[in-house]
Amino acid sequence: MEDNHIITLDHISKSFGDSLIVDDISLFIKKGEFVTFLGPSGCGKTTTLRMISGFEMPSKGRVLLNGKDVTNLPPYKRPINTVFQRYALFPHLDVYDNVAFGLKLKKVPVVIKKRNGKEVTKMKHLPAKVIDQKVARALKIVDLEDLEDRSIDTLSGGQQQRVAIARAIVNEPEILLLDEPLGALDLKMRKEMQLELKEMHKKLGITFIYVTHDQEEALTMSDTIVVMKSGVVQQIGTPTQIYNEPQNAFVADFIGESNIYSANMVDKRKVRFLNWTWDCVDDFEINENVDVVVRPEDVILMGPRTTNLIGTIKSKIFKGVHYEYTVIVGKSELQARDTRDLKVDSHVSIKIDPQNIQIMKKQYNINAFYDAYITKDNKVAMTDDEFECDLTQLLPGSKIDDDGYLVKNGVRYNLTDAPVAVEIEIKAIALSDDISASEVHGVIINSIWKGDYYQVLVRSSSEEDYIIDTQDSWNINDIVSIIVKKDDIKLRLKGDISKYEEDA
Ligand SMILES: Nc1ncnc2c1ncn2[C@@H]1O[C@H](COP(=O)(O)OP(=O)(O)O)[C@@H](O)[C@H]1O
Ligand SMILES: [Mg+2]
Repeated sequence: MEDNHIITLDHISKSFGDSLIVDDISLFIKKGEFVTFLGPSGCGKTTTLRMISGFEMPSKGRVLLNGKDVTNLPPYKRPINTVFQRYALFPHLDVYDNVAFGLKLKKVPVVIKKRNGKEVTKMKHLPAKVIDQKVARALKIVDLEDLEDRSIDTLSGGQQQRVAIARAIVNEPEILLLDEPLGALDLKMRKEMQLELKEMHKKLGITFIYVTHDQEEALTMSDTIVVMKSGVVQQIGTPTQIYNEPQNAFVADFIGESNIYSANMVDKRKVRFLNWTWDCVDDFEINENVDVVVRPEDVILMGPRTTNLIGTIKSKIFKGVHYEYTVIVGKSELQARDTRDLKVDSHVSIKIDPQNIQIMKKQYNINAFYDAYITKDNKVAMTDDEFECDLTQLLPGSKIDDDGYLVKNGVRYNLTDAPVAVEIEIKAIALSDDISASEVHGVIINSIWKGDYYQVLVRSSSEEDYIIDTQDSWNINDIVSIIVKKDDIKLRLKGDISKYEEDA
C-alpha cells in the first residue's frame, strides 16, 4: 500500500439475500482526492458508500483506512461524515444549533492532574468557546456566517444543503461522503453548488467521495471518476480519460453523446465500420471484433466529393452554437456536430481523424444496444427490430394506464420515441426455425463451440447483431426467429424521466 491511500477497497462484495449488489470491487482513493462514483440508479453506489462509512458490512472483502483494516469498525469510530440528499436537519433548531448539535454531545478525553500529583483521564464536553470557534469556521467555509440565528425553514434549498455540509465538516472528518447531495435542487442551483462544493474541497483539503448518476456533474467536479454498472466497476480514470478513452461501449454511451458501432480489425491499425475501412491508432488483433466510439464533435462533414464515403443529412437540430446532424451512411446513422448550417437531404463527405476513433474490446457477456427507442405501442425498437418490453422498470412503482401511458402518483409520461439503452443477457435470447415464432428475424452469421455450449451470432434483417449462448447447433446462413421474453429486456432511459411528463 502507498501511504497516500486513505481508502482501499479490497475485493469487496455485498449481497442482499440472493442478489449480488456490489460485485468484487477493488480500488484505492488517495488522500485529498475528489472521487466520484458514477453510474445509473440502482448500480450499487450508495451501498458502496455505506460500506466505506461502516453503515453496511461487506459480505466479502476488506475496507482499509490509512492502511488499517476497518471492516469491523463501527461508523462512529471512523473519521468519516456523510452528507445526504435529504438533509435531515432539525427544523426546530436554528442554523447554529443544527451545526453545533453533534459537538455539544461529543465528549473528549481530558487529562486532569489531581492534588496528589496523579493524572486521571476524564471524558468531558467541549467548552462552549471551542464549539463556537468550530461552528464559526464551518459556517464560514459554506458561506453562511451571517445566518447563524436563522431558523431552518426560512432558508432556501441551497442554503439548507450548506447547513447540512457545515454539520458534516464541523467534526473535521478526514473524509466527507456525499450521496447525491444536490439531487433535490433545481438545475441552476445545482450548477452553482457544484462549483461551491469544488471550492470547499479545495479550502478543506480533505478527501471527498461523491456519488451521482449525473455524468455532467461527475465530469465537472471530480479528480477521479469510478464508473459503475450492476455492481461492477467499468472504468476508473480522470474525467478526460473517461470521456476521451472509454474502455467499453457502456462507458462511452453513459458519459456522453456518441456513435457506437460494431467493427472489425481488418488489418494492422485498420478498422472497418460504416462499410468503410478507417485508419486508427489502436493496435488490436487482426480480425478481432471490436466496438468503436466516435464523438459527434469529431465527425468532419465536407463537400460531397472530398472523400469517397458519402452520407445524406437526414435531420438537424440547432443547439445555440452548433447544429446536431443525423447523417445516413448506408444503413447506419451517424451523429455529427457542425457550426455550419447544412441542408437536410444534401450529400456530405465524411472524415474522422484516426486518433478520434476510440476502439474498445467487445463485450460478449451481454447484448447491448445503445440507440434503441420506445415505439408508440410501448415496444422497444433496435433499428426496426421491435420487442415487447416492460416500461414500468423505468420508474419504480409506476403502472401502464388504459391509454398505454406510464403513470405514477397521478403523473403521466409519454415515452413514445424516448431514446433508451437496452441490455439482453446472452442466455435470454432464444432462436427458432419457426418463422412465425417472432416478428424479428435474422440469419446465423457464426457459431462457435465453447466447450459446453455454442456462442451464436445472428444478424437481424435490420442489421443488428445478437449474441446467443445455446445448446443447439445452427448452420451458418440459417434463417431464424429471434425471441426475447418481455422481462428479459432491461431498459435504461437516456436523460431524466421528468422530460416525458405529459401536461394534464
Ligand atoms: N438493505 C437492502 N436490502 C435489500 N436490497 C437493497 C438494500 N439496499 C440496497 N438494495 C438494493 O441494492 C441495489 C443497489 O442499491 P443502491 O446501492 O442504493 O444503488 P444506487 O445508489 O447506485 O442507486 C438496488 O436494487 C436496491 O434495491
Ligand atoms: Mg443511491
